[in-house]
Amino acid sequence: MVSMPKLTVEGYGTFDVADGKRLVLAMEQDAGVDVLHACGGNARCTTCRIEFIDGEPGKMTAAEKAVFEARGISGVRLSCQIQCDQDVSVRAISRLEGSGRPDAGRPPAAEITPPPEWT
Ligand code: FES
Repeated sequence: MVSMPKLTVEGYGTFDVADGKRLVLAMEQDAGVDVLHACGGNARCTTCRIEFIDGEPGKMTAAEKAVFEARGISGVRLSCQIQCDQDVSVRAISRLEGSGRPDAGRPPAAEITPPPEWT
């Protein structure tokens, strides 16, 4: 049996997700969260930001680190820059509902973009 990581989203429930799936896609497709991804998952817009309740990964892509440093943001992570490779519990803090945007943004690719350099 293949073990699948569990994704818990506060207020939505707990879901089995494919090992290695991008967190932004797991939130949207598996948990049914209307998570924003305005830049299409490229670590530019920060609209896919989430808060970790449990299981925050220690590694971070260089692109995620750079955009947080440039904008002076801390305490959140970019769901487009994280793969589901362990059980995690998160809070959806940036959703289409209430954003005033017409849609969630361009669909992110299956793999992390830009190609990840892990820090
Ligand atoms: S930073 Fe734009 S979707 Fe993640």
